[in-house]
Amino acid sequence: MPRRILIDADPGVDDALALALALRSPELSPVAVCAVNGNASVEKAAANALRILDVLNPSPRPPVAKGADQPLSRPRVGAEHVHGGDGLGGATELRGQNGSLRYPPSETPLDQRHAVDLILDAADEETVLAALGPLTNVALAVRADARKMRRYAELVVMGGAFRTSGNVTPQAEFNVYADPHALQEVLAAGLQLTFIPLDATSSVLLTPQTLAEARGSLGRFTRDISAQLLAFTQKAAGVNGMHVHDALVIAYLLDESLFRLEHVCARVETAEGASLGRTYHEAGGTPNARAAFEADEARILALLKSRVLSLQPDGDR
Ligand code: RIB
Ligand code: CA
Repeated sequence: MPRRILIDADPGVDDALALALALRSPELSPVAVCAVNGNASVEKAAANALRILDVLNPSPRPPVAKGADQPLSRPRVGAEHVHGGDGLGGATELRGQNGSLRYPPSETPLDQRHAVDLILDAADEETVLAALGPLTNVALAVRADARKMRRYAELVVMGGAFRTSGNVTPQAEFNVYADPHALQEVLAAGLQLTFIPLDATSSVLLTPQTLAEARGSLGRFTRDISAQLLAFTQKAAGVNGMHVHDALVIAYLLDESLFRLEHVCARVETAEGASLGRTYHEAGGTPNARAAFEADEARILALLKSRVLSLQPDGDR
């Protein structure tokens, strides 16, 4: 039986790759996609989720619901300078040879329910909640019914930086920095929690060569949305490729042996200042989560190459 998964995301280029991997993996059954403010506004994130499903054309097609448009208490921070003003690297403005938009707004409507209601409705022992953006929707669901949320088999979070530098400030990773209070409330709720932090995701890079050779409509979509993120990452991180942070949450759900995990007593800084959004292990504290500290880059990229980019997993040709 495929594992039921609810994906809460802020598409977002790597969110798009995560959705593609999830929907191209028969081991998983996405039951809903929830949009949250993060890389782009929640309106754009929701519209992008619908566009991504148009490209993937899954059957059955999971509903897309819109969630929180701002963090619990901090002012909004975005990542438009990384993921583009549209959240998809400008791909929503690309036109084909006939002049029509290559990725037009979807004709499929949003689910009328709020994302928090879908997250609560889906909570059961057979379902995993994958959080690929700031945890605002998840925290609001916990506030509404923490006991119901504890029914989730697992909450897997792309977020945090425990023993490595942040990517928004030297100390903080974006999803946590964007809403640190949301993580603090989720940590206190007693869910079965696994972090896929920068400690693991920063070692996995999709190279320009792989992107250039990606095949099929999904390969072209990946190339179309990735150009800006690739250029930004090459310049900002000085590496030859782009990170695919969120896709590693799906890779973990497909095969956790791809990661080296440790039990941690995870804590987050919520005080204003240089440490805002910092995540750390409190030595001697009671473990409240697992965190991935290493990832098998070759095997993870093989999954993306074969299932999303239509490339042979053992090489780019
Ligand atoms: O720090 C990486 C995370 O921030 C990813 O989820 C990316 O999509 C951005 O939201
Ligand atoms: Ca994301």
